[in-house]
Amino acid sequence: MRIVLGVGGGIAAYKVASLLRLFTEAGHKVSVIPTDAATRFVGVATWEALSGNPVSNSVFDDVEKVNHVRLGHEADLIVVAPATADLLAKAATGQAGDLLTNTLLMANGPVLFAPAMHTEMWQHAATQTNVETLRSRGVTVLEPASGRLTGADSGPGRLPEPEAIFAAAMALAEASTDDEPDAAPAAHTSLAGRTVSISAGGTREALDPVRFLGNRSSGKQGAALAAAALAAGATVRFLAAHMDVQPPAGVELVRVESALELREAALKAAVDSDVVIMAAAVADFRPAEVSDTKIKKVDGEDAPVVRLIRNPDILHELVERRNAGGGQQLIVGFAAETGDAQGDVLEHAAAKLKRKGCDLLVVNQVGIGRVFGLDENSVVILSGHGAAAESAAGSKADVAAAVIDRVGAELTRVFPAT
Ligand code: CTP
Repeated sequence: MRIVLGVGGGIAAYKVASLLRLFTEAGHKVSVIPTDAATRFVGVATWEALSGNPVSNSVFDDVEKVNHVRLGHEADLIVVAPATADLLAKAATGQAGDLLTNTLLMANGPVLFAPAMHTEMWQHAATQTNVETLRSRGVTVLEPASGRLTGADSGPGRLPEPEAIFAAAMALAEASTDDEPDAAPAAHTSLAGRTVSISAGGTREALDPVRFLGNRSSGKQGAALAAAALAAGATVRFLAAHMDVQPPAGVELVRVESALELREAALKAAVDSDVVIMAAAVADFRPAEVSDTKIKKVDGEDAPVVRLIRNPDILHELVERRNAGGGQQLIVGFAAETGDAQGDVLEHAAAKLKRKGCDLLVVNQVGIGRVFGLDENSVVILSGHGAAAESAAGSKADVAAAVIDRVGAELTRVFPAT
């Protein structure tokens, strides 16, 4: 998602550096526009380094790019933090004296203000009228948090915590995508004449004839990918482990249960596929012993201990076989990552992409997403060929369309149709 992050001239500007980090770690492209006053609190260098993009607040920089029109127009979301009394007033009265206020007038998507100021300024009738005006126009203005302010005073006026602003911003972006017409967004690419094999759902690893170890994968993202690939004209082979939803009509369906069954089906399907997408949640372990009969409880005996053994890594094996001459498929993996002390989401994902050796890795940002319930709808697509990372957010259909678009582009580049 493209985000414009407007920064107002308040001391809380320093906290917005953390907010920017949350956006970029979630894979969003952020253009920061600080007001001149904001740069007296946090300098342009900080915003440029953290966003990876040039930063200006002048309508007279890079005039040929027409930034005062383009930035607002292209942004999927505009967030202003801290929104000072001055910025709220300018936005409410439609002023356009600098790049940020111009951008707000050009906004094409949702706009969120996170105010921060002293309590008296927040409660002043002028500010409250401006907030009402903005809200009546569909702009989201968060309530400031209460607590210690810059001086000795305390009360409502603190900038909400960066995580709270991030959550509100993601929810707003998601809600605005949901408002769009329901039809699944079609991928822009053509996969006519291509065969795409997609694994989906969660494997079940048998313990005995009635019990298994499973996972919570619903198969919805895999089904959305299949629908997007069909819409792009591909022949779709759908390797379905356990799913909560029906596979889309029109696929060649192969039902599997365990990781070993999926391995067999995937290796077979890969031979004459142009693309293999491993969207299934494959159990990394299975019970070492599978009882032929139902395991019974026996009074006086200890409960059984389940020993697990490793399942083969199907994705890795697909890559190895392909590299050893087993066909010419483009291979796509999925990964769920969290940031930790060893690295952020993207660093872990880049290491996984290298380990797995696949062409594209679609990374779900669980660390941020799970907290805010958006994990399935915000991904980053990493390329093993060194192409730039790309993010996609929205419904599963939106994400699927973005992945299939990217697959189409990579396919044309790596294995042009003959
Ligand atoms: N995968 C696979 N075979 C396995 C396990 C996973 O093919 N035995 C595939 C999945 O379909 C997915 C990718 O590998 O495309 C996920 O990789 P995995 O190593 O399982 O990553 P995570 O589940 O994200 O986590 P972790 O690194 O902790 O294992």
